[in-house]
Amino acid sequence: MVTITNEEKLEIQGLAGERSLTGAIQVGGAKNAILKVLAGTILFADEVNLFNVPDIEDVRQTIKLLIDLGAKVNQTDKHSYIVDTRNLTQTIIEPIISKNLRASVVLTGPLLARFGRVSFPHPGGCVIGKRPIDLFLSSFEAMGAKVELKNDLYEIVATGGKLRGANIFLKIQSVTVTETLMMAAVLAEGKTVLKNCALEPEIVSLGEFLKKCGAQISGLGTSTIEIEGGDLLLCQGQIYHTIPDRIEAGSFLILASLLAKDVTIADCEPKHLDAVIDFLKSSGVNFEIGDNYIRVRDNNTTSFIANDLKTHEYPGFPTDLQAPMSVFLSQANGQSFIFETIFEGRLNCLESLERMGVKVKILDSHRAIIDGPNELTGKELFSPDLRGGLAYVIAGLLAKGKTNVHNVGYIDRGYENLEERLSVLGADIKRTKI
Ligand code: EPZ
Repeated sequence: MVTITNEEKLEIQGLAGERSLTGAIQVGGAKNAILKVLAGTILFADEVNLFNVPDIEDVRQTIKLLIDLGAKVNQTDKHSYIVDTRNLTQTIIEPIISKNLRASVVLTGPLLARFGRVSFPHPGGCVIGKRPIDLFLSSFEAMGAKVELKNDLYEIVATGGKLRGANIFLKIQSVTVTETLMMAAVLAEGKTVLKNCALEPEIVSLGEFLKKCGAQISGLGTSTIEIEGGDLLLCQGQIYHTIPDRIEAGSFLILASLLAKDVTIADCEPKHLDAVIDFLKSSGVNFEIGDNYIRVRDNNTTSFIANDLKTHEYPGFPTDLQAPMSVFLSQANGQSFIFETIFEGRLNCLESLERMGVKVKILDSHRAIIDGPNELTGKELFSPDLRGGLAYVIAGLLAKGKTNVHNVGYIDRGYENLEERLSVLGADIKRTKI
């Protein structure tokens, strides 16, 4: 289970559907990019410069893990760091933190590749499903490692002290498995070919940076990535500028589609949001799309068109926006069918939306139907996970009356100063002690 702050809540005064939000909201660096680049610093023989790093809990926890391993981390400003892993002293990933942080599993690849061994617990994170790690373990074995489970820790040792390149077909297009194996292969003996890779932009961003620093990687952005093993990488003063967080941008776009008078989502990358933009457009939302912004104005749309939502690996509709989009669909005219194909525990926020007034039918752990439109009434809500928590904030802003969103710690994992940034748009939302 994730230990999250229960001492605080977000107190929201709903707008009762009134489209009054105005102003601009800047999108931060992508959580799911920077967490992996932080892990990748283990592959380097010199200091690594990181910019546009979001000030969120998952980053702070990952940095704690690196420091516990012996890295030197210097925060040069709120969103910039220099990481030096030259004197790493150990290969056991701190269990208490990593049990609460799914992304910690990505550290295993670089550690195993560089030191020939790594020990770690089953990684934790948001409770959105079982989240097995069988593909990590079987792939490491394919690269010549031995896997043992001793007193709740996985102990992985590369036979002969070094991983060997291998041809690996991923039976699931897993994001973190693709990233972890790509990084492990950077220091392995010989060539690794990864087939059926995930295509997320965060993977491309990670791979491009590693290539800039000497890694021999080809096929980024395709389902087959080839890596020629080599020596430790050199940053040589180059910087990694974290790409915009497409899930944060999509979250704000959904909010703006419902409640904007005139809102600009700035510093984002619209081309990473094709599926979300296409979905909202087909539901009748109009927006202006620039190179690095999306602007939503009130165009007196009286109603939105119901729309079937099916999550899919990138570039399909992102599972991380299924919960926020369910709130949008609660306002659409007619029946929307939701099919969450990736995780089996990600529909759990629909029950609370039902308590707020949404007509929901949950068919099974992957499928549900929402009948709209619905008037929402503010309630006491308990975030089940990071993206469910964000969905509750959107629902609270949409509703009549007051909503308290608890388990703010989940939201703080992935959204920097959410309440302050939304208040700038005119939302009545504040963080209070319980
Ligand atoms: C990444 O998780 C993201 N997290 C998730 O974002 C995101 O929802 C997910 O990708 C899908 O896009 C990070 O990048 C830190 P998967 P990941 O492996 O890599 C199964 C957020 O809110 N699987 O792509 O853990 C797994 O059970 C988070 O920011 C295995 O069966 O997801 C799932 O059904 C939530 N065996 C499917 O693959 C394995 O060994 C896809 O999961 C690994 C995964």
